[in-house]
Amino acid sequence: MELFSEERSAEVVAASFGEAADPRLRHVMTSLVRHLHAFVKDVELTEAEWATAIDFLTRTGQKSDASRQEFILLSDVLGVSMLVETVNHRATGDSTESTVLGPFHVVESPPREVGDSIALDDKGTPCLVSGQVTGPSGEPVAGATVDVWQANEDGFYDVQQPGIQPAGNLRGLFHTDAEGRFWFRSVVPRFYPIPSDGPVGELLAAAGRHPYRPAHLHFIVTAAGYRPVTTHVFVAGSPYLDSDAVFGVKESLVRDVPLVDDPARAATAGLDNPFRALTFDIGLLHS
Ligand SMILES: [Fe+2]
Repeated sequence: MELFSEERSAEVVAASFGEAADPRLRHVMTSLVRHLHAFVKDVELTEAEWATAIDFLTRTGQKSDASRQEFILLSDVLGVSMLVETVNHRATGDSTESTVLGPFHVVESPPREVGDSIALDDKGTPCLVSGQVTGPSGEPVAGATVDVWQANEDGFYDVQQPGIQPAGNLRGLFHTDAEGRFWFRSVVPRFYPIPSDGPVGELLAAAGRHPYRPAHLHFIVTAAGYRPVTTHVFVAGSPYLDSDAVFGVKESLVRDVPLVDDPARAATAGLDNPFRALTFDIGLLHS
């Protein structure tokens, strides 16, 4: 084996992974080593900076548990989550664009019936959320699974406030009807800060970056024979649409949440008239 040298460090270390039996592991590790070594040489990393980085990553792991995922947050604020999502799910035609999963899909969404309310604590501004899931030819997708979750009016997910919010608040797992439609009662989402009391928050503060995400509702839609899509719908006019801390906004995912004056529809939905309505149709690609 060639001995380590500053000039050829990347080649020497990459070669040590060159015999890995798994070709993908070989490719990923040799590329990772080349980029890491180029980075260290580019910034001429000091020993103190290296120690700071080790401490930062250690604390990122220590901050993570079953309901707090600091590593996903780190990936998010570096734009890596968004990039991985984007290169793996390139939308075509009228299919719905994807965006980040985010760190709060840490519990199973409770199964619910179309028309149910997911706002278990009755806080916030009521909102009727509805849409239709269709395939590439516009065909309705019956029986699609629509998994939704969102923060409450104060900007927190249920898992961040055990004992304050009921478990499963503002989460639901729905199935589309025969026409591919879904609808449920919720509340108008609000912008919120990603958790900033850990290492990722320190990084943002040191860089002069704010931790806010524009108002949104998360979706994962799956159906047999179609590619799943992980996405959000964003509320038009929300603060931070142009500076999302995790780079998740795509123009095609922004929707108005108008005040609707329709007493009959309000009565059917179980809402006071007038009411806010968020419509988000979802186009899937064949798998
Ligand atoms: Fe979110």
